[in-house]
Amino acid sequence: MEVIIAKTFEDMSRAAAKEVADILNAKPNAVLGMATGTTPLGLYKELAAMNKRGQLDFSHVMTFNLDEYVGLPVTHSQSYHYFMHENFFKHVNIPPQNINIPSGTTTNYRAFCEWYERRIQEAGGIDLQILGIGSDGRIGFNEPGSSLNSRTRLKTLAKRTIDDNARLFGDRSEVPIHAITMGVGTILEARRCILLASGKKKAAAIAAAVEGPVAGTVAASALQMHPSTKVFLDEEAAGELKMRDYYEWIQKKKPGAPAV
Ligand code: F6R
Repeated sequence: MEVIIAKTFEDMSRAAAKEVADILNAKPNAVLGMATGTTPLGLYKELAAMNKRGQLDFSHVMTFNLDEYVGLPVTHSQSYHYFMHENFFKHVNIPPQNINIPSGTTTNYRAFCEWYERRIQEAGGIDLQILGIGSDGRIGFNEPGSSLNSRTRLKTLAKRTIDDNARLFGDRSEVPIHAITMGVGTILEARRCILLASGKKKAAAIAAAVEGPVAGTVAASALQMHPSTKVFLDEEAAGELKMRDYYEWIQKKKPGAPAV
């Protein structure tokens, strides 16, 4: 894991956007794994601005979202379909048929999950997975206790997740209790991952994910086993890291390393 600590949310978002842009410039038909939530909003804004300036093309890109609430129609303002359309897809030139988001309204979840996994494979696998992190260390809706080999499936949300997300719904009772999510195993198969975190509320989860033991109780810690993950943080989210000096030393010295 490479840890990049930026001063602010905006700096973090710009650094992550550069990472995505580098990948798309090297492989214009890259397959991107997308996340929702407040954390990647700055990144999506940066990418949309690059697209608008003609610096980044999404016309050959394919996307797969991590997750979706069960039971919310795509028109619901808190559905991840709606979120992605409003905050990203409608601002870039990605063909609608290249967008994949798990269905929260299918009648056969098992069949849908198997199909979603197959579709990722048929697309050639995910080149870059974008991730946020929950305050309990979840990635996607892989709640504490998730198998580190898990695949796309239906999950029952933890009470803490429902509490975290209640702020976005009118009332806590409106937060769905189930979701469909890529598994930790699905995420680990992406060729590269970027994990973004911002704010004090994420500091403990980031310390556990980056420096704690690999454990199903902190799904993001599985990224320690991933060969190419970069963690983009702002100052507050980096607040509980013990090896910060070392991460900063690496960032300073890396440009001088021999090319591999
Ligand atoms: C989003 C997702 C979640 C979020 C996490 C953090 O698709 O899968 O794991 O990344 O809940 O959300 P924010 O960024 O709103 O703090």
